[in-house]
Amino acid sequence: MNRLLELLNDSVWHFAVSRVKFGIGAADEVGCDIKSLGVKKALLVTDEAIMKSGVVDIVTSSLDKEKIEYHIWDRAEPEPSLKSILECIEYAKKIDPEGFISVGGGSVMDAAKIVDLIITYGGDVLDYVAPPTGKGKPPEGPLKPHIAIPTTSGTGSETSPAAVVNLVEQKLKVGISHHFLRPTLAILDPRMTVTCPPRVTASAGMDALSHAIGSYTTRRFDQKPKPKTPLERPAYAGRTPLTDIFSSEAIKIIASYLRRAVYHPKDLEARAGMQIGAFYAAIAFTNAGVLPDHAISYPIGGRYRTPHGLTVAVLLPAVMEFCLPSDYKRFADVARFLGEDVKGLSIFEAAHKSIEAVKRLEKDIGVPNGLEALGVKEEDIPALAKETLKEQRLLAGSPRPITEEDIKEILRSAMKNY
Ligand SMILES: [Fe+2]
Repeated sequence: MNRLLELLNDSVWHFAVSRVKFGIGAADEVGCDIKSLGVKKALLVTDEAIMKSGVVDIVTSSLDKEKIEYHIWDRAEPEPSLKSILECIEYAKKIDPEGFISVGGGSVMDAAKIVDLIITYGGDVLDYVAPPTGKGKPPEGPLKPHIAIPTTSGTGSETSPAAVVNLVEQKLKVGISHHFLRPTLAILDPRMTVTCPPRVTASAGMDALSHAIGSYTTRRFDQKPKPKTPLERPAYAGRTPLTDIFSSEAIKIIASYLRRAVYHPKDLEARAGMQIGAFYAAIAFTNAGVLPDHAISYPIGGRYRTPHGLTVAVLLPAVMEFCLPSDYKRFADVARFLGEDVKGLSIFEAAHKSIEAVKRLEKDIGVPNGLEALGVKEEDIPALAKETLKEQRLLAGSPRPITEEDIKEILRSAMKNY
């Protein structure tokens, strides 16, 4: 009997989410929030562009009001390199903070997570990076408190257990993933996103849409192998009835607000919509997983330093096309959630409409036309496909078995999208 049970797929799912606070004015409460976590001295991680935008002032005046000692590290990089994270760790060691506040996009929040990990437990960054590049060591326990305040609506890093590092010399982006990396509190205040430029809004918004579509169509939890022990059940454990609620809503919300947020940056209703849509998408994908667009995007980002959101955006139509035969019904749902009229269509025709809808949205908001427009060279496709195979953690979510040849075909097809 036990032998038979070992051969069966998983039959259990779990669900995790960060504490969250949402609304116009939520960021004014950060001083009180960090104090309630027992932090009297904090390191505020951000980047130069966000410092210049003035939104950090909302946070610092709240910290001043509560008499919290804080030090600002404003040299976080987009797609952070290991070097920049090590610099931040050195700075943090001098300060010896009791907690962290990150104000920025996914890169800033990811940098804060990694610095928090090393400051709390020591060791080298690569000790914690997923194998085969790193040793895959889990954190020994909870990290120091971290409040994440996103200034973009997309990555979902404010509730995700993952952080990405760019190993520039190896031209490779790698991740650290563990539930202890989830920020203690996510503060979503739409005012923090109004200075986000249209191109970044489009890129981050498409990242969020790829999380939403990916988590709705990824493998179901009971289509994945049973882990040997409960502790080995991965963070991205497959879609469940609960993740479906968040992913389907996220697709609808993002489809309603992304164009508005790109073309009307100060439209607070659209900004709030995108924050909620991206957060729902993040709740869904950080439990369910994503499609192979994310795995394929990492070697591209590592090699060409292309923005994460735009990279997954240009890959998404080809990846959806590849995954479509795994479940036409699911992709027909996606078409409907995106606002397509599918009345009278067969399930196959309706499913294909989901790809058309994604391409139309990308064209409308100025996403570059395929990998070629991002500078990807056709001759690099074999190497990119090979490197993608190292991203098994993410490839495991593909609802259709995927080979190196399939990845090459997806890359070729994504060179031009419309
Ligand atoms: Fe993403």
